[in-house]
Amino acid sequence: MRILSGIQPSGALHLGNYFGMMRPAIELQEKGEAFYFIADYHSMTSLFDADQRRQNSLDVALDFLACGLDPKRAVFFKQSDVPEVCELAWILSTLTPMSLLEKGHSFKDKSAKGVPVNHALFAYPVLMAADILIYDSNIVPVGQDQKQHVEMTRDIAIKFNEQYGQTFVIPEPQIRGEVAKVPGLDGEKMSKSYGNTIEIFGDEKALRKKVMGIKMDSRTPAEPKPDADQNLAIQLLKVIDKPVGQEFEEKLRAGGMGYGDLKKKLFEVYWEHFATARAKRAELAANMDYVNSVLADGAFRARQLARSVLDRARQASGLV
Ligand code: ADP
Ligand code: TRP
Repeated sequence: MRILSGIQPSGALHLGNYFGMMRPAIELQEKGEAFYFIADYHSMTSLFDADQRRQNSLDVALDFLACGLDPKRAVFFKQSDVPEVCELAWILSTLTPMSLLEKGHSFKDKSAKGVPVNHALFAYPVLMAADILIYDSNIVPVGQDQKQHVEMTRDIAIKFNEQYGQTFVIPEPQIRGEVAKVPGLDGEKMSKSYGNTIEIFGDEKALRKKVMGIKMDSRTPAEPKPDADQNLAIQLLKVIDKPVGQEFEEKLRAGGMGYGDLKKKLFEVYWEHFATARAKRAELAANMDYVNSVLADGAFRARQLARSVLDRARQASGLV
């Protein structure tokens, strides 16, 4: 079984990325042949600062390795180190109906907000399809927001197979129900683009301030809160540590616990959860040669496979 996923280097990674995608991906590296990559080509649709992209890409590499991605088990690489994926994207785009891309929610959301959209953002699902199909991927662990993209990938692959004969493996998305959509500081989906994130790594003081600043209602501590499950701090606590979250949900429901104490607990549990990863990240950051060698080795392995699948598609479609 081949497992594949990618993450954009478009900003600091957060709890939504970790629980929605990284942790499931890290767990899956035990179950099959895993390919995980830093989607730097994708980041070009919305980030236009070259130095920032370079820095973010290294940060994603550090974050993922610190959180437990094991380069002995998983092939870990940067998307643009396998430029074959762009050729496959072109080939696939010729079989992708405009009407399919017009349904794409990342493009629709951005244009609805009045953000000027470039061609690459519109065509983004085709590049993502190429990412997935070029490694004969079976399983794609992602958060809920990426489900539509994997479904488009399936549609495009089926179309290609019908047109040119059996060529691509049809992938399946894998989405963990309970962490499909981790809420952000404002209760909306946590996302780099909404400025509502709690980062996985960062400055302790600033992060404590973010957590303690989560808005609560004006009910007194003594009041029982029958709607405790709707409380954002409880929801986040349950994502990070379910038993502790459930315990505090009961306390809040019963009354007698203040919101300040609840948020303090949330910060404590969160900070402790990443203690080992934080130490590992500091160690890795002092050894960037190692990190770069992991990515170089990953690129080499990924590229070999990509080349062979691309050749298959070139053959099937009559380019050779
Ligand atoms: P962002 O929305 O912050 O830009 P990305 O689009 O780069 O995040 O997402 C990277 C991965 O993390 C994807 O698989 C995505 O589904 C997952 N993910 C992002 N935010 C969340 C969230 N709030 N809850 C669950 N999964 C998420
Ligand atoms: N579009 C994904 C995101 O924004 C990143 C991504 C690019 C990806 N290519 C992929 C995820 C292939 C899974 C498989 O999160």
